[in-house]
Amino acid sequence: MSGERTAEDLRSHRWFGVNDMRSFGHRSRIKQMGFSKEDFGGKPVIAILNTWSGLSPCHQHFKERVEDVKRGIYQAGGFPVELPAISLSEPFQKPTTMLYRNLLALEAEELLRSHPIDGCVLMGGCDKTTPALLMGATSMNLPAIFFPAGPMMKGNWAGQTLGSGSDTWKYWDLLRTNKITAEDWTGIEDGIARTAGHCMTMGTASTMTSAAEAMGMTLAGASSIPAAMSAHPMLAAATGRRAVEMVWEDLKPQDIISRDSVLNAVTVVLALAGSTNSVIHLLAMAQRAGVDLTLEDFDKLSRDIPVLANIRPSGAYLMDDFYDAGGLPALMKHLQQMLSTECITANGASLGENISRAKTYDDDVIRLLDNPVSDAGSLAVLKGSLAPNGCVIKAAAASKHLLQHRGPAVVFDNYDDLAARIDDPDLDVTADSVLVLRGCGPVGGPGMPEWGMLPIPKKLLAQGVTDMVRLSDARMSGTSYGTCVLHISPESSIGGPLDLLRDGDLIELDVPARRLDMLVESSELEQRRSLSRDHPPKATRGYTSMFSQHIGQADEGCDFDFLKGSGSPEPAIH
Ligand code: FES
Repeated sequence: MSGERTAEDLRSHRWFGVNDMRSFGHRSRIKQMGFSKEDFGGKPVIAILNTWSGLSPCHQHFKERVEDVKRGIYQAGGFPVELPAISLSEPFQKPTTMLYRNLLALEAEELLRSHPIDGCVLMGGCDKTTPALLMGATSMNLPAIFFPAGPMMKGNWAGQTLGSGSDTWKYWDLLRTNKITAEDWTGIEDGIARTAGHCMTMGTASTMTSAAEAMGMTLAGASSIPAAMSAHPMLAAATGRRAVEMVWEDLKPQDIISRDSVLNAVTVVLALAGSTNSVIHLLAMAQRAGVDLTLEDFDKLSRDIPVLANIRPSGAYLMDDFYDAGGLPALMKHLQQMLSTECITANGASLGENISRAKTYDDDVIRLLDNPVSDAGSLAVLKGSLAPNGCVIKAAAASKHLLQHRGPAVVFDNYDDLAARIDDPDLDVTADSVLVLRGCGPVGGPGMPEWGMLPIPKKLLAQGVTDMVRLSDARMSGTSYGTCVLHISPESSIGGPLDLLRDGDLIELDVPARRLDMLVESSELEQRRSLSRDHPPKATRGYTSMFSQHIGQADEGCDFDFLKGSGSPEPAIH
């Protein structure tokens, strides 16, 4: 404890420390729950925002871990209070958890604002929970530290290592072409997710928890620790202890998150060949901290940052291999010339201090700079007549021979249209066609579902085609792979050029030139625009209606227009 702040300086002092009728009520109600003045008097109140739920397998261990976090908070002289928050369960919530990322961000901010809270531990990990919790905590700007759920251990079926998501797609295609049996498929179902924790490929969860660590919002090394290991409850207790210290030091998210620390996160995501979803989330997180970040920053860095993490879906290994090889601190040590190592982190030390003693124990998993998985370019940002405001492709997970491609469009207006026609034997499609899915953006989805890895038509699979150029205004899972151009902005449902595309139009993808174009005469496009279709809102009531009215486009991070930036840290109270 720094000793710079006193109990009277605590925000919770207004609830518990003063002598008036209101604080009498607050104290008597805390005592109603069995706590005495020795428990809460003059101590930092640490909220633990817990995204456990009975439908969140990635966070199933949070019921126990929250007790470990509390243990740490008590050890350091704080008073822990657990506040449940929406779990954003990737496997179960439809149409997509992205529809609810901003809801959790809003909830996190208001939970902190409206309660007698001095600091917080944010318990998340499953895809959207990490950006959502950090967005809310950043806007609220109380001392905050992120506690990552940790990846699950690798899966196994019949002696084959299984990776979350990636192997689902792979074996589904084998099942569709009768190369594995229904019994095999059930065996894979039993073996692909065997312990607590989030997806153990370099999907959105591992990407975003690593980004949070690189940004300085976790303890050093936190994001790589598998959920099932004893180091994980130890991390929970250490995170709790540190949250108390951060309150006394008044170390807040906006003291940690700067343009340099955000660029550190982008750099690390690129070296991990991380999920394309991170582009949207990092844009939104930066905005909450008042940091200027654009798609161009990603593309500029991507041209220089090598891929060092040899992790699926772009590489060969999984997250527990990454942990044993030295984890994120080891990878960041290789990158230190490309990072702003002076950035302060949640433990009070600089990033450079945190990685100074890191070691790599397996340089096939965490590659050295002179032997990268690829030299550069794990993500690319493209612009052109089909995506005036930008779109992204995970070049590291794409087929090299398709990165420059010209082919005729096969257009699907929405997911139902795709599902109905993709395997139609009469579909006019060849391996050179460009599959296009529209109507799946932030407004059109709504919520921009992960439908961007369009399935290869069955008749082409049977011919041995395993990848094609695919375009959409949707996202794709970080565990997905293939030559998929995503996040086309503006989306078709608000009149983006994607809406004007017709079957047979020639499309040109040129990743080295960072271009995506529709080769259609402007006069023809003008005519089509004059006939353009209406897009009536899909939802007319409730949260989804509000979402559709206030959601931003992908190139701006898909935040709500009324949530950007920060609010007052104080509630209107009496
Ligand atoms: Fe939770 Fe993948 S389903 S991280």
